[in-house]
Amino acid sequence: MRLSRRVAALAVAFGTMFATVACSSTEEPGAGSKKVEVFTWWADGGEKAGLDGLVGVFKTDCADYEFVNGAVAGGAGSNAKQVLASRLQQNEPPDTFQAHAGAELSDYINDDQLEDLSAQYTEWGLGNAFPKGLIENLTVDGKIYSVPANIHRANVLWSNKTVLAKAGITKDADTLDGFFADLDKLKASGVATPLALGKDWTQQMLFEALLISKLGPEKFNGLWNGGTDWKGADITAAINDYKKLLTYTNKDRDTFDWTDAEKLLMDGKAAYQLMGDWEAADLDAKGFKDYGWSVFPGNGNVFQWLADSFVLPKNVKNAEGTKCWLKTVGSATGQAAFNQKKGSIPARTDVGTDGFPAYQQAAMGDWKTATQVPSCPHGSACAQGWQGAVGSAQGKFSADGDVAALQTALAAAAAEFGSKK
Ligand code: GAL
Repeated sequence: MRLSRRVAALAVAFGTMFATVACSSTEEPGAGSKKVEVFTWWADGGEKAGLDGLVGVFKTDCADYEFVNGAVAGGAGSNAKQVLASRLQQNEPPDTFQAHAGAELSDYINDDQLEDLSAQYTEWGLGNAFPKGLIENLTVDGKIYSVPANIHRANVLWSNKTVLAKAGITKDADTLDGFFADLDKLKASGVATPLALGKDWTQQMLFEALLISKLGPEKFNGLWNGGTDWKGADITAAINDYKKLLTYTNKDRDTFDWTDAEKLLMDGKAAYQLMGDWEAADLDAKGFKDYGWSVFPGNGNVFQWLADSFVLPKNVKNAEGTKCWLKTVGSATGQAAFNQKKGSIPARTDVGTDGFPAYQQAAMGDWKTATQVPSCPHGSACAQGWQGAVGSAQGKFSADGDVAALQTALAAAAAEFGSKK
């Protein structure tokens, strides 16, 4: 998929805005450079801790090379993706960048921006290391374009145990009705905004979790592969429930990143937050111990997955160094060091549970037995054009609450982008 004019304009604007960040991380490596610029959005907290874990292994296994941190802060790549688009457009790629497995990766493949890594998969014995389904999400026309670092779960409800106890909530709700009842109990106990929420992509996540409850996994998958009609009455009903859910959230949500919303939970100003399991790592990194987790109410045994992977862009300054980074990412040691700190679980199937926090040990078990569905804001279900269209539609809805307008915009986004995957 080509960059739309709007995205291209944004890319240029952000490129200028972040020029200092980008330049300082690519200081003239020159020919024979030992530097490997790794571009991510893992700049703080648990995300940085995960990256640091991986860098530790890289320093040992790739001692000839020097890690250069090209991180651009902002949850889910909200700033990084624009900077990256601008750099790719100007043919100034970082040596490697983080990309989500699935439709989002296809954006870069279709734009001919990535090298084929099939030979490296053979050389490093990666062919059988990852689940078959995941490999399919990294492959186009028989060529494989990235090395997955992890599997994250998106549909997790995090909670502040003390706030729940004060409201007399002793058990996790497993239906939407039960969840609404608990939110009412929390309001009655004096928690004005029991459900912490952030801006656009975090709102997409909450809405998707609700859609999984309302539609079930099969119909939810159909939203992304054309099998489910976005104009249906069941979607109208889901949007109405989502509108009700928003009444329990903080009004300043549209200015919040996920970590700002997380702070409301940590400070006891909110009881719940729907967020991917990078939140486990972040709460741990911040020393907050009073948290619980459960799958979003009504999601049953559905595991909404996404995977971070790393690529070898075309025309990089240090392809050999990047290969060493990618080898580290794909190795069992690299995956253990990274995932133990990142809240995710290894993409490799041969890494044991030893050394992993309790949350990830549970997630490793769930991953094996759960029904899997993808995520749009985290790229496994849809590419960047579609993500952006849904994000702005939901941002508008957050302000005006117009159910019919949101449904029309979501249906239009599916019609425009659904066929381009
Ligand atoms: C996701 C990414 C995760 C985590 C999260 C929040 O898109 O896959 O690794 O970083 O954003 O920033």
